[in-house]
Amino acid sequence: MRKKLIAANWKMYKTPDQARDFFRDFLPLVQAHDRDEIVVCPTYLCLDAAVTAAKGSSVAVGAQNLHWEKEGAFTGEVNAAMLLAVGATRVIIGHSERRQYFGETDDTVNLKLKSALEAGLIPIVCVGEVLEEREAGLTDDVLRRQCMRAFYKISAKKAAKLVVAYEPVWAIGTGKTATPQLASDAHIIIRGEAAKAFGQEFADNLRILYGGSVKPENATALMSEPEIDGGLVGGASLDPKSFSAIVKY
Ligand code: 13P
Repeated sequence: MRKKLIAANWKMYKTPDQARDFFRDFLPLVQAHDRDEIVVCPTYLCLDAAVTAAKGSSVAVGAQNLHWEKEGAFTGEVNAAMLLAVGATRVIIGHSERRQYFGETDDTVNLKLKSALEAGLIPIVCVGEVLEEREAGLTDDVLRRQCMRAFYKISAKKAAKLVVAYEPVWAIGTGKTATPQLASDAHIIIRGEAAKAFGQEFADNLRILYGGSVKPENATALMSEPEIDGGLVGGASLDPKSFSAIVKY
């Protein structure tokens, strides 16, 4: 049985004070909840506040990005060791917004994944097709390419803690959710790529999250699908009540 993981991606929302307020209200709502793993990924600037606020709870904190180099003249960037030093234990890699607006490529996703695994961070690697690709019948090809290139030259042993998130770009922030069946079909393709790269046993244990307009109203249907091992939640994770309702679907 794969333990489900419900992760909040706060994107470019919340100041440190707002992050503290969130945890003050959110933690009591999920206090006794140990069925699923809960992760909150705020901006870099709020990591310290989130880690401090989450101390003593079962909620883990992750970043939304990292740079792959150990250190150097890379203005504006943050590396894996820095994330670990402030208490972040997870990191989102290759989110479609980073691919779309910030020049993230399959190759940089691979470099970031290697660097995160090397440092001991738990990576959540995002893959997903845009609307034109889905409409052109290219979804499976896109997912296969994104996974193959993300996993390139990484051993199963190194990748042990890997998590993948399937986020169809047309479902992000649009209110359009993939049906559980459609998400499930995509997850099977991703699991197949993981099997090719890391072996069947690894793939059977790999957690694949679904992201894209997950809300309290659709969480139960999505999370009940055996292929869906959790969610990566954007907009609906900003409010403690709505995120806790998703966690407790
Ligand atoms: P929404 O839940 O706002 O659609 O965002 C999904 C997402 O991009 C999570 O990473």
